[in-house]
Amino acid sequence: MTNSVVTIDGPSGVGKGTLAQFLCCKTGFHLLDSGAIYRSLAYGALEEGIAFDNLPGLVDLAENLPVKFIENSILYREKDITSKVRTEEVAAVASKVAAIPEVRAALLKRQKDFAQPPGLIADGRDMGTVVFPHAPVKLFLTASAEERAKRRVKQLKNQGVDVNIRQITQDIMERDERDRTRKSSPLVPAEDALEIDTTDLSIEDVCQMALNKLYDAG
Ligand code: C5P
Repeated sequence: MTNSVVTIDGPSGVGKGTLAQFLCCKTGFHLLDSGAIYRSLAYGALEEGIAFDNLPGLVDLAENLPVKFIENSILYREKDITSKVRTEEVAAVASKVAAIPEVRAALLKRQKDFAQPPGLIADGRDMGTVVFPHAPVKLFLTASAEERAKRRVKQLKNQGVDVNIRQITQDIMERDERDRTRKSSPLVPAEDALEIDTTDLSIEDVCQMALNKLYDAG
């Protein structure tokens, strides 16, 4: 099964989600949006009043996360939380709980279980290094923080959310710093990943480069 896994890692706002959707359409593979799992855990911790220093409480929630991914929707205890997990507040909490090694370990099996025939496109921070280290195709996307903030602002404006670009840039940089410097599964490219700097590329260019890599891998 590992043979059919394509990993896409990189910092926030770099275009991983768009690329992952594109590759799913092209291949018919399943999608793992691992960020959505961490966001759902953060949402659950906030909702259920589990403090960040309550390690057993967080691990228990991670092990029994009452979340379902149905098509493009996320259900938490059967309640649709799809838009609720996309807020900057939830993202910030997600990156804090994601820095706890025991929490990451508790979510590992759940992520691995997404690898089902005919294959998987796995989007996250440690897909190629920790969750699917034997995946034959690994992509690592980068872009300048300014460009990523611009993209995020555009996305939020399209959703009708009023935003402050300076604040968004700062939030993105703080979150990336935490993701890159944490001890457990830091955001780093796998040695065998194809790195693509998307700063000056269109999404079409990035999709084409990724597709070429998939075809090369057979
Ligand atoms: O990708 P997304 O922005 O939805 O992820 C939210 C947060 O979850 C990230 O900032 C990161 O801290 C965490 N995350 C992680 N490992 C993953 C996916 C996401 O630590 N594989």
